[in-house]
Amino acid sequence: MEKQVTLIDKKFSLYLNEEIILRRIKELANVLQKDYADKELVLLCILNGSFMFAADLAKDFNGLVELSFVKVSSYEGTESKGKVDELIGLSSDMKHKHVVIVEDIVDTGLTMDKIIFLLQQKFPESIEICSLLFKSDAFLGKFKPKYIGFDIPNKFVVGYGLDYNEKGRNLRDIYELIPE
Ligand code: IMP
Ligand code: MG
Repeated sequence: MEKQVTLIDKKFSLYLNEEIILRRIKELANVLQKDYADKELVLLCILNGSFMFAADLAKDFNGLVELSFVKVSSYEGTESKGKVDELIGLSSDMKHKHVVIVEDIVDTGLTMDKIIFLLQQKFPESIEICSLLFKSDAFLGKFKPKYIGFDIPNKFVVGYGLDYNEKGRNLRDIYELIPE
């Protein structure tokens, strides 16, 4: 039988296994390495969701890179709200730096629009987005990720950093919600 997990009141089935995820992350790291070969790169990791992705991406990146972590709060339950008021922990020293925002998932893209608006106020040299998952069918935003791990259908997923009401972030694989 297919691998399943239960989180609180919902059941999820295996969608992307760890091996597939890690293989794709290696490819993304290689592309970033080439694109930022002679640039001062900062990976700006959006907590909490991107913690696993950012760690594996950084480990596969051979070269000088800075890691920075910020926190936004925008999501409750299984429905996106796209409301971000502040980037907690954003360094003021972003000038001359090339920033790649590392996100677990871009859904409607409204959270990312806000993140970019707030980041632009620090005047970095450039800004791009690297998202492990991208729900292209749900996307309404202004800034599409340049680096995408997997373009996925519009369904709710958990694991590998992604949560359902804060549960499931520790799972090695990514699971999709089984509709009731
Ligand atoms: P957006 O503003 O709709 O793009 O949503 C962005 C945020 O919502 C992401 O950074 C995630 O934290 C969360 N999110 C969106 N889709 C999912 C999902 O399928 N599972 C878990 N969290 C999600
Ligand atoms: Mg997130």
